[in-house]
Amino acid sequence: MLEEIKSSVSYIQQQGDFKPEIGIVLGTGLSNLANQIEVIKRIPYSEIPNFPVSTVKGHSGNLVLGVLNGKKVVALQGRFHYYEGYNMQKVTFPIRVLALLGVKKFILSNASGGVNPNFQVGDIMLIKDHINLFPDNPLRGPNIEEFGPRFPDMSEPYNKKLLQIARDAAKALSLNVVEGVYAGTSGPTFETPAEYNYMKAIGADAVGMSTVPEVIVAKHMNLDCFAISVITDLGVGEEIEEVSHEKVLDVAKEVEPRVTKLVFEMLKHI
Ligand code: HPA
Repeated sequence: MLEEIKSSVSYIQQQGDFKPEIGIVLGTGLSNLANQIEVIKRIPYSEIPNFPVSTVKGHSGNLVLGVLNGKKVVALQGRFHYYEGYNMQKVTFPIRVLALLGVKKFILSNASGGVNPNFQVGDIMLIKDHINLFPDNPLRGPNIEEFGPRFPDMSEPYNKKLLQIARDAAKALSLNVVEGVYAGTSGPTFETPAEYNYMKAIGADAVGMSTVPEVIVAKHMNLDCFAISVITDLGVGEEIEEVSHEKVLDVAKEVEPRVTKLVFEMLKHI
């Protein structure tokens, strides 16, 4: 795997001398942020040796190198979900590549179902911590010492300084944000009412189908992570409302400008 990652990295480095400091995973809620990047180079995933390619037709994936609010960034436009059938090594492959490109910090976003009764649809949740409910861990198997230790510390999965920068940025923009614990599950099913209850009982505030594997791998390499979740539906109370992918996308689209503004503002202070 190490050789595969290194050959992806050297291909990207051959495209120009650019050293990004911050990696951004443009998940739900942040896809528009790509339009604000002063693009230096956009590389389709399909051109990068060994890079996973999206299974979904028309879902082009691109690696975008550029400058965003004065910071050198590399953004992943399109991520790989476990529910699509990729193994954990493929899901997290791009994170390894970005780390070897020199990224020290990661910003990620996702959509999730809220299980905290104080939450509302459309809330922006700063992720404080996570619970890994995926049936696998991306670090299972032989450890690559070059990346990090066999038993990585996870005492601060989401960097406290970045979290404070986000709080301050939200305040400066008069944006209302909530904070909470994100439970990551394999999907692709949304939760049953009993499962939403379970998520709440084990200490989660929201549940979704991404981010956790990527953060585990980033932390393995001792990198700082920050993640935002858009609460697109609620699994709260006696009667759980029906959820659909369309609803998730609709809500995310509505919230997106606020999330984009928040991350843009944050970059000034990182
Ligand atoms: N559950 C899991 N993943 C999700 C949800 C949810 O309710 N909403 C958006 N992604």
